[in-house]
Amino acid sequence: MIKLIKSTFFHELQTKKALCAFILKSEQLSIGKKCDEFEKRFAIWQKRKFCVLFNTGSSANLALIQALLNLGVIGKGSKIGFSGITWATNVMPLMQLGLEPIPIDVEVESLNVSPKTLEDSYNKNPFQCLFLTNLLGLSDDILGIKNFCQEKNILLLEDNCESLGSISNNIMLGNFGLASTFSFFVGHHMSAIEGGAVCTNDKDLNRELRMVRSHGWDRHLSKKEQKFLRLKHNISDFEAKYTFFDLAYNLRPTEITGFLGLHQLAFLHKTIKSRESNFNAFLTLLKNSAKFYPLNIKMNCTSNFAMPIICKAEVTKKKCIQLCKKKGIEIRPIVGGVMSDQPFFKKYITKTFYLPNSRLIHKNGFYFANNPELSQKEIKYIISTLSSI
Ligand SMILES: Cc1ncc(COP(=O)(O)O)c(C=O)c1O
Repeated sequence: MIKLIKSTFFHELQTKKALCAFILKSEQLSIGKKCDEFEKRFAIWQKRKFCVLFNTGSSANLALIQALLNLGVIGKGSKIGFSGITWATNVMPLMQLGLEPIPIDVEVESLNVSPKTLEDSYNKNPFQCLFLTNLLGLSDDILGIKNFCQEKNILLLEDNCESLGSISNNIMLGNFGLASTFSFFVGHHMSAIEGGAVCTNDKDLNRELRMVRSHGWDRHLSKKEQKFLRLKHNISDFEAKYTFFDLAYNLRPTEITGFLGLHQLAFLHKTIKSRESNFNAFLTLLKNSAKFYPLNIKMNCTSNFAMPIICKAEVTKKKCIQLCKKKGIEIRPIVGGVMSDQPFFKKYITKTFYLPNSRLIHKNGFYFANNPELSQKEIKYIISTLSSI
């Protein structure tokens, strides 16, 4: 079986051995030096000033929205645009925190929001913020999206949980908006078993995220920031230990997350290059078959998460499902499909949205594995199997 995810880590055995040795010699396993070190190194890797490490990518999304509310950058009831196809925990925090989510259709040839779908949606129902998902390591004209947001004064955030390492217009995805989120769950570009992060250049957001991550206290702030807050609220250093300055959660990573993150970061460049070259090989499948929609991706690096196939007819998808089952190729629906058609969304929001492309992708699409451990033999096998449809 060619599974979506082959192993927990890249260089699995070496990583597990290193993890065992690290645990045995560590005095502290709760958040500490390894998390700090990872944050510094990942911020450099992502070319951002700040990185805040979380226990999951979903937590990073939740914390980002909470932090922006705490700072007053967005207000209760604000309208927030999001990608028609994304993951549940991109949208759930918007609903949980009293915002109004507005799905934006995506393009069939990129699976992502484009300046056109953004403008169409905005003209019908304007929003203050766009929480864009960079789906599957791909993007449409994200520079055009950024320009449109600037022109209309829309706050741009990126959910980059599926696109670590992708580059468009010579800029890494995750660096187009105020902040971006990442996931380090098994099977993502870099695994820390579970893990997530927010990257930003904004000092205030960095500070607020550290408080939202950890009970609303100030323990993970700089001395200067602590002094300012304690003076403002007239709190002694003794009382500060248990002072909760704003709404928060406990979404902290452990030292294991930090250690694994650092260990896997060393392989990241290599694994991204493999994903890119596998993706380019899989593109031949789309080019040579009239049964599938072509992809039109204009990026400098496509750090593909999994390979999407959109069939022109629903019957072709049904045939692909049967064939892949028979031939031992694991396939799944394209991410979470149309999020606004999911039961959790419809339970709370009864309005219907016009999302023809997203619905087509959901109805006729599926994806199969792209991971750095795929062999050339497996790549050829997948291509020849699906070409026979
Ligand atoms: C686009 C997107 N956002 C958020 C997440 C959540 O990340 P995690 O599984 O680390 O909570 C995922 C997970 O796959 C995702 O694909």
